Amino acid sequence: MHNQDAIEAFRKIFEDDAQVVASAPGRVNLIGEHIDYNGGSVMPFAIPQRVYVAACTDESEHVFAHSAALAKDGRFPLDVASPTEPRGWENYVQGMVHELRAVGVQLPGAKLWIGGDLHPGCGLSSSAALCMAIGYALAKLAGVDVAPVKMALAGQAAEHKFAGTPCGIMDQYISCHGKADHALLIDCNKLTHEYVPFHADGVCVLAIPSGVKHALSSGAYEARVRACQRAMAVITQAYPEITSLHQVSREQLEACRTQLDDESYLRARHAVTEVARVADAVAALKAGEFERMGTLLWQTQDSLRDDYEVSCPEIDELIGVLRACGPVLGARMIGGGFGGVVIALVPTDRADEVEDEVKTRYYSPNNLDEQMFRVVPSAGAGADAV
Ligand code: GLA
Repeated sequence: MHNQDAIEAFRKIFEDDAQVVASAPGRVNLIGEHIDYNGGSVMPFAIPQRVYVAACTDESEHVFAHSAALAKDGRFPLDVASPTEPRGWENYVQGMVHELRAVGVQLPGAKLWIGGDLHPGCGLSSSAALCMAIGYALAKLAGVDVAPVKMALAGQAAEHKFAGTPCGIMDQYISCHGKADHALLIDCNKLTHEYVPFHADGVCVLAIPSGVKHALSSGAYEARVRACQRAMAVITQAYPEITSLHQVSREQLEACRTQLDDESYLRARHAVTEVARVADAVAALKAGEFERMGTLLWQTQDSLRDDYEVSCPEIDELIGVLRACGPVLGARMIGGGFGGVVIALVPTDRADEVEDEVKTRYYSPNNLDEQMFRVVPSAGAGADAV
């Protein structure tokens, strides 16, 4: 999809001309899962698939939104203070309007066409991309530059307050800061980042939908956040200098083992070992050592399954297929868990072989009609005047 497609689609729906077009990408996360809300570093990259928003101002004090993916319309006043029920796609639009106004952006009434090639619920962070595309379109209409970190925080607040998802900052942050040929190492405590070159000559990343839809707002994600907080409450008793789980060493965690309930111990063990794997992965990527990178992906998968307990039988089955497939250097589930997408790092000249294997050993037996795709690091969100 391109800006021009969004402009034409806007005209068909609203019989009016768009003044701005914004777009924002989804993401895959190479490594650092369930680490953002524990203050550590994560290393995602933005993918080519994007949410597009074409928009123009409206003289009323209202926002009119059309979702092309869902073929639905919504309308609400600019001073929306709380999410309408039942919760759905419209809440993300309301959330961004509310959060941008909360940071002082004077928004005009607006008409928004929302579409793109990153589909709702695809497991590649479509909701964060939706929020960022809406945010950039609205800010452009208002004639205001909102710094990317501020936009990411507005998106996270919109998810918390309007969508009911207590997510971390990773997805919004990468959607704003993505860059071609680079992964992004985000320090989620300081909200700073470093670009790590990822040309992936010779290797590629396959995004493989598991066919299982995940629902982040379900309680399982929140339960993980709470278990990490419980672990922190115990650990800081023993080590008052520690302010965030990502600072805890394995020795410190083990020293607190007897005071921790089993659940919070296991969740914290994932966080502590994952923080170390991220550091290793950055070194591996910088050195172009993709076999080492692959080994770290397998290890993260094991930790997500055994310690964080966010895998599910279908993901385990898909990972089993990939493990048995010779060319795969490493693979793991990404995102919140319980379904969604698996990434696999594979030599580019053997990617076809891996795709065939997934089709015959996972998709066909399970009657799934999913599309795998090869993802490359791509540009972040932005808006243009038409
Ligand atoms: C979801 C959340 C992110 C992050 C991941 C797990 O994608 O939106 O903030 O916590 O899960 O790493």
